[in-house]
Amino acid sequence: MTRERSDGETPDGETAGELATDGGTVDDVALDPWGSSTVSDYRKLFEQFGIEQFDEILDSVPDAHYLMRRGVIFGHRDYRPVVDAMVNDEPFAALSGFMPTGDPHIGHKLVFDEIIWHQQQGGDAYGLIADLEAHSARGLSWDEIDEHARNYILSLLALGFDPEEGELYRQSTNREVQDLAFELGIEANFSEFAAIYDFDGETDVSHMQSVVTQMADILYPQLDEPKPTVIPVGPDQDPHVRLARDLAARVSFFGVTEAYASFEADPAERELIGEAYDTLSERHPEETIRCSDAATHLENEREPGATDVEATTLDTAITLLKEAGKEPLRPRTRIVVRNATDEAFEALIEAVEGEKRVYDAHIDTFDLTKTEAEQIAREVEIENGGYGFLPPSSIYHRFMTGLTGGKMSSSIPASHISLLDDPDTGYDKVKSATTGGRETAEKQRELGGEPDECPVYELYAYLLAHDDDELAKQVYDECANGERLCGDCKEQAARLMEQFLENHQEKRDEWADKLDELDIEFDSDRR
Ligand code: TRP
Ligand code: SF4
Repeated sequence: MTRERSDGETPDGETAGELATDGGTVDDVALDPWGSSTVSDYRKLFEQFGIEQFDEILDSVPDAHYLMRRGVIFGHRDYRPVVDAMVNDEPFAALSGFMPTGDPHIGHKLVFDEIIWHQQQGGDAYGLIADLEAHSARGLSWDEIDEHARNYILSLLALGFDPEEGELYRQSTNREVQDLAFELGIEANFSEFAAIYDFDGETDVSHMQSVVTQMADILYPQLDEPKPTVIPVGPDQDPHVRLARDLAARVSFFGVTEAYASFEADPAERELIGEAYDTLSERHPEETIRCSDAATHLENEREPGATDVEATTLDTAITLLKEAGKEPLRPRTRIVVRNATDEAFEALIEAVEGEKRVYDAHIDTFDLTKTEAEQIAREVEIENGGYGFLPPSSIYHRFMTGLTGGKMSSSIPASHISLLDDPDTGYDKVKSATTGGRETAEKQRELGGEPDECPVYELYAYLLAHDDDELAKQVYDECANGERLCGDCKEQAARLMEQFLENHQEKRDEWADKLDELDIEFDSDRR
């Protein structure tokens, strides 16, 4: 059978995910939560934004989900505490949110599956409807929102979310989230929103309120008690995750840093001082290293090629060290007061064991590691009425390529398969999808197809092959070595899609009858 690329074009923009964790080529990446979610080069996200590669922790994840094994989940921020909690049977949570702007589609299914998997691994699971965000940032009416919200929830349930164990909510009706949002808003200001989100004088206030609401969503699982929490999202949501991690620290009673002497230094200065300390104590293991010694050492380290910033940092570090003079340089863990009351500070002083020095608004401890100090500070915070939030973690999945090439978009029906599509329609959409095949069957047998460029292969890997790695691999290998032709391959995929949709919609129908039993409203009286 002869099959050709249905539109004769190479899909532009984001290409079908090469299933190794580094893919793509092209230019600059911007992460915009309200922009068009495409990423031209996932590798840039590691360098530019400090997202960590999922690969590096994959082996430590118990019974890793197939989306993890296949590189669809490609990155994370600080996921390790969640993995540790999973392994050690300690409490952890997973939460994600959905803007009810249209029908849930197979791209959303990735996130549904991620929440459900964490629930099955023993985590507290949360799924929320970002109705305030949809109303303020996307201008949807409450009637539309109600209808879409219902559809998202039904699909999440149909895919296996257990509402008895987990929690489903709408932003607009969750009073605790609103209250927390208000508190977090005290720590954020407009300039910062402008820098992070490109907001300007025209941005409406309710849109900004939806941002603090999302911050509250992200920290909500920790309101009862702090626990590692993962937010499974697309990388476009990373700015939100970073801000939430920041706010979690800003509302805390105490902060923990490493220091070398009694004075305050910023992180860059601290690094220089630390290097000086390490070098000098290696050279003179028996001697007391004094601040003035480090100053002299750093004086000699001046480099002609240094940038202005580096030179300034070095200057201030040297000045600080000179001023401290004969004071011994000695590594210590410092706990500084952020929002603590006097009583809480007193309690902290009590709680810190071993050698310590107490100052006006910080304590230097000499026998505690950073992690131990953080633990103690958090306990004191909680005992004294604080939140004690842990910085939330995240995992990031690749965006699915549209069936027509280019990006998968809710506004282009042929580019995606809605979870509400008729099974027949699903079948047809797969059959008419763009492929990574060659112009003729002969060429395909000779050269093999290009599964890495093929939205149909992606369907197998992201959804249709489900847990069956053998099938995913078989499709890939047979395609790449020319044994598989697109016609048959699509027929197989189309049938699997048809079955999936049939089955999914049956389960949706079952849940539809039980929806009243759940504690969630789908008729908002807002207007
Ligand atoms: N902003 C998210 C989106 O665009 C929706 C959302 C709201 C969310 N609150 C959240 C996602 C909390 C993750 C966690 O779809
Ligand atoms: Fe064709 Fe299937 Fe290969 Fe895609 S994966 S190029 S549809 S044979």
